[in-house]
Amino acid sequence: MERILVLTSGGDAPGMNAAIRAVVRTGIYRKAEVWACHNGYQGLVKKDIFKLEKEDVAGCIQRGGTILRSSRCELFHEKKERDKIKRFLKQKDINNLIIIGGDGSFRGAATFSNEGGPKSVGIPGTIDNDILGTEYTIGFDTARNTALKAIDNIRDTAFSNSKYFLIEVMGQRAGFLAVDVGIAGGAEFILTPEFPLTAEKLAKKILAPRRKKESLIIVVAEAGKPGRSVRIADKLRKLTPFDYRVCILGHIQRGGSPTVVDREIASRMGNLAVEAILAGESNCMTALKGGHLTLSPFPGEKAHYRKLETDKLLKLGTILAS
Ligand code: F6P
Repeated sequence: MERILVLTSGGDAPGMNAAIRAVVRTGIYRKAEVWACHNGYQGLVKKDIFKLEKEDVAGCIQRGGTILRSSRCELFHEKKERDKIKRFLKQKDINNLIIIGGDGSFRGAATFSNEGGPKSVGIPGTIDNDILGTEYTIGFDTARNTALKAIDNIRDTAFSNSKYFLIEVMGQRAGFLAVDVGIAGGAEFILTPEFPLTAEKLAKKILAPRRKKESLIIVVAEAGKPGRSVRIADKLRKLTPFDYRVCILGHIQRGGSPTVVDREIASRMGNLAVEAILAGESNCMTALKGGHLTLSPFPGEKAHYRKLETDKLLKLGTILAS
């Protein structure tokens, strides 16, 4: 009997539970045993694993976060620890690992498999949608909708009270979230890590002649510097005759009940991950390419994240809000 171990690693994302559920139920359907651990690789370091049955994943598909909990684990970077885990998993006859997480988690899994550890297949999950090799990562759509709802709420008060707002959304290395919610939320300007704009240039754009407006929305991607919108607002206050309010959406975007898109894609990815690993695949992740579900090699060491390739959508957002 094949044994699969599933874990969630790194930042959690809505839809991870749908993926766990799909892994467990497909695995059991395929006559495999499905095991799990809590808190990502930390659970393996602690050798704290447990077997899952179909009923253990009942009632979780609509919940945000991950029922297996998640963490970023420094110890897994150490070869000595990985060797201990490798021996432990061999003893337990577990030679299949399904990792639901981001590229850092996949790099760990790839190293582990290459050192003679279990076969590994990843399911990409991060609200940033920035994993190289897939057009979609679980959690992105829910985060988009959560952020958009917040922007819509802010627009109501911005309009009524004639205020200028900077709304900071997540997106550590890429601006996918910022662009989508910026366009959908009618933002006048969108700031992303890929196409940085100095406060001076942004101030010029704000001051440029345009349709009379009482309120203004600027969507700012966090870009690895949480709170940076506060500093941008400080500069804009000096460079323009306006006041600015700042709203940092933060971890609100990571929680909440997953949308249809996230539940559906996570379910299909969970199913494919099991089919793939039982068919002997390893060192790859489930991926969406051209709208089709497929497998893609784990992103390599270099250029290991996906970026916005053009600023077309940023420009479009500005035209449409002009
Ligand atoms: O999950 C990705 C992400 O949400 C980034 O956008 C953000 O910068 C980071 O995680 C925050 O992580 P943490 O929860 O560790 O502060």
